[in-house]
Amino acid sequence: MKRVVITGHPVVHSRSPLVHGYWLKQHGIEGEYGYRDVPPEEAADFYARFAEHGFAGCNVTIPHKETAFAALDEADEVARALGVANTLWLEDGKLCGANTDAPGFIDNLDASAPGWDVDTSTALVLGAGGASRAVIYGLLKRGFDKVVLANRTLARAEAVAAHFGPKVLPVGWDRVPGFLRDANVLVNTTSLGMKGQPPLDLDLSALRASAVVSDVVYVPLETPLLKAAKAQGLRTVDGLGMLLHQAVPGFERWFGVRPTVDAGLRALIVEDLRA
Ligand code: ATR
Repeated sequence: MKRVVITGHPVVHSRSPLVHGYWLKQHGIEGEYGYRDVPPEEAADFYARFAEHGFAGCNVTIPHKETAFAALDEADEVARALGVANTLWLEDGKLCGANTDAPGFIDNLDASAPGWDVDTSTALVLGAGGASRAVIYGLLKRGFDKVVLANRTLARAEAVAAHFGPKVLPVGWDRVPGFLRDANVLVNTTSLGMKGQPPLDLDLSALRASAVVSDVVYVPLETPLLKAAKAQGLRTVDGLGMLLHQAVPGFERWFGVRPTVDAGLRALIVEDLRA
């Protein structure tokens, strides 16, 4: 029986075991997906000696995505481009890894808002942390000509932009309103709007009617940003879908079946988030 774990610190809040448990049951696979808290001081050793732990693979969450990447024998294109890995597996004794956050973000938009990429001239991304890099990578890969990256701390946006090259334009937070009319896609990757955090307070009225607004925050599911966009008649995509879609490639890799993100899975996680 294959055993897979979510690794990170802390990991108790992770919904990954619920997601993979749902798919294991759905497909009648005898496998196990559990939690493994890895304290930061043990992380480098844990991933370097991954083959000794008896797991077929693992997911990696904060704060170990860079450490896990550094331990890989082989990494996929996205992981190499971003320097972080969130999905690991063993192949012929080698530790292999991928970054599925970027494709998860794109797959979620494809599934939730078909045609969202009809106009790939400009996307506006808010926030310059780890999630922002995955989102920007996905948008550029999909063919966006320009990504305007706005962040409260301009230096962080500049550092991210430098990583991606001239298609990413770093700007300060005060310039967001000026770019709204250009963007057909708006993505929030900041923690604003998350439960316990201040809301992302933006006047969206300058956005075009065709614009799609997406949030990586999923607690609550409907953030103040998404609520405002909906009230204006815009299409919205919540952050839960990204979490579910990023899990698909790992499950397929470990258990040999490509699962789908269906309504039952979504309902299960929504119920758990409410509890
Ligand atoms: P992650 O890796 O999950 O994306 P992170 O690295 O902590 O998270 O980044 C959080 C993002 O939310 C950053 O872009 C941060 O802006 P700064 O770089 O200026 O810190 C943004 N953020 C958090 N609180 C904010 C606030 N009150 N106003 C504006 N941006 C905020």
